Amino acid sequence: MPKILLRPVTETDLPILFQQQLEPEAVAMSTYPAKDRGEFMRHWEGILKNKNVTARTIIYKDKVTGHIICWKEGKYEQRIGYWIGKEFWRRGIASTAVAEFLLLMKTRPLFAEVANHNLASRRVLEKNGFSIHDEGGKISMYKLEK
Ligand SMILES: CC(C)(COP(=O)(O)OP(=O)(O)OC[C@H]1O[C@@H](n2cnc3c(N)ncnc32)[C@H](O)[C@@H]1OP(=O)(O)O)[C@@H](O)C(=O)NCCC(=O)NCCS
Repeated sequence: MPKILLRPVTETDLPILFQQQLEPEAVAMSTYPAKDRGEFMRHWEGILKNKNVTARTIIYKDKVTGHIICWKEGKYEQRIGYWIGKEFWRRGIASTAVAEFLLLMKTRPLFAEVANHNLASRRVLEKNGFSIHDEGGKISMYKLEK
């Protein structure tokens, strides 16, 4: 397992997180379109002020490698999402970040929405004890019970 650190997201992380969410290969994996700079900064300004959202920057080898976040949405109340910069993929960073985040966020159940073709993210969730709760044609909801 890579040695990572989760710490609160700061405004100085945002330009890096912005670049990471622009990466076309990453966008193709996720269920979210890329945001332009203004939209992204407004979105994160809201997140950083919102006490019901827990967001952490993932640090690996002193670098901002991505983020992980938990928020409330709709009937699947507590959801998690994560995003790793492409240059850091396939080193176990997402798997480790989710494992560490689950120790911090003890609310259960937790949900995560994943595009069915996003095999890496599905694997991250399954390795951390999530299973399919609601299987859709293109997107599925995963759930962690305990
Ligand atoms: C999905 C994502 C978070 C994975 O991050 P990562 O740090 O590379 O993941 P890990 O290194 O922990 O790998 C997790 C597992 O997926 C596998 N994997 C990684 N990339 C893969 C790929 N492109 N295809 C299939 N499997 C893949 C790994 O082998 C590993 O499985 P293993 O432990 O059985 O070997 C990253 O690719 C990403 O941020 N993508 C864009 C945004 C996104 O999809 N976010 C999730 C939305 S729900």
